[in-house]
Amino acid sequence: MRSSPVSSQGLQVGFYDSNCPDAEDIVRSTVEQYYNRDATVAPALLRLHFHDCFVQGCDASVLISGPSSERTAPQNTGLRGFEVIDDAKSQLEAVCPGVVSCADILALAARDSVDLTGGPSWSVQLGRRDGRVSSASGASALPSPADPVSVQKQKFAAQGLSDKDLVTLVGAHTIGQTECQFFSYRLSNFTATGNPDPSISQAFLPQLRALCPPNGDPRRTVALDKDSPGAFDVSFFKNVRDGNAVLESDQRLWSDAGRRAEVRGEHPGAVRAPVQLRVPQGHGEDGRSRGEDRRAGRGPEALLQNQLKKRPARPG
Ligand code: HEM
Repeated sequence: MRSSPVSSQGLQVGFYDSNCPDAEDIVRSTVEQYYNRDATVAPALLRLHFHDCFVQGCDASVLISGPSSERTAPQNTGLRGFEVIDDAKSQLEAVCPGVVSCADILALAARDSVDLTGGPSWSVQLGRRDGRVSSASGASALPSPADPVSVQKQKFAAQGLSDKDLVTLVGAHTIGQTECQFFSYRLSNFTATGNPDPSISQAFLPQLRALCPPNGDPRRTVALDKDSPGAFDVSFFKNVRDGNAVLESDQRLWSDAGRRAEVRGEHPGAVRAPVQLRVPQGHGEDGRSRGEDRRAGRGPEALLQNQLKKRPARPG
């Protein structure tokens, strides 16, 4: 996916082979180490990369903290895994200072997370530059669970992604979890009808209600794929087919005729395998230094104050 624009931006597989040959191994071993302690870090890292890429391209802007930064936007509620990226960056700085971008670490960590959970693996094109612009308002490019399919399609199209890419990428919800607050409105008085969302299966509704009761904790987490939240497999698409998707946006993939065909994949009655998953590989136009240090407390937060007043010069 997205290979031609990527090449023109100068990304390439093996980008660090000569100046930081262990870069990919270091990221991999760091992700593995955290994953072995807490497997829920894998979905967190995949989501982190996706949220980075949808706002100004994959430029690690999501890591920048500070007032009104992208990270503070409501769309980025619940993002996790920052400490894994920080740790990998520390190790990389020790062996090749100022070489490997945080945006590339995010892209590698997402690939490794999918691989560790049993999904496909792929070669990551590298050489992204870290951007310095991060504003909460930019996060409006991200999809919301209550977006109608038409809006989801528009938001993906704005990233150069097709309707087919939308279905493939949302298949990432085969791993991970969501807080009750993102879907409990479906469980009663949905769209002020007094009834629950009719697209939720009769068997699944009481399960969701038990997990997220009225006046319960809105931050309680529920698996996005009820059958195997830790495995990157086809059960998410089966759930969509059977009315067992948790988020409204996921379930809507089945109510839209075109998207339903995509969920089915090649064979009627079947569901697609999420094997083609690739998060877009591009980087932000405003990307700068590859080796910028944005570990907690060391990032370019100060730059945020001036970021929109002055665009940094392009590197030579
Ligand atoms: C229409 C598009 C999408 C919407 C509306 C959406 C929405 C959400 C929401 C509301 C959550 C729960 C967040 C929380 O409770 O903290 C979530 C989790 C997640 N999303 Fe998406 N998402 C979309 C597409 C994607 C894509 C394209 C990817 C990656 C390729 C992705 C990967 C994930 C993962 C892995 C999780 C679980 C995170 C965790 O367990 O920490 N999502 N998404």
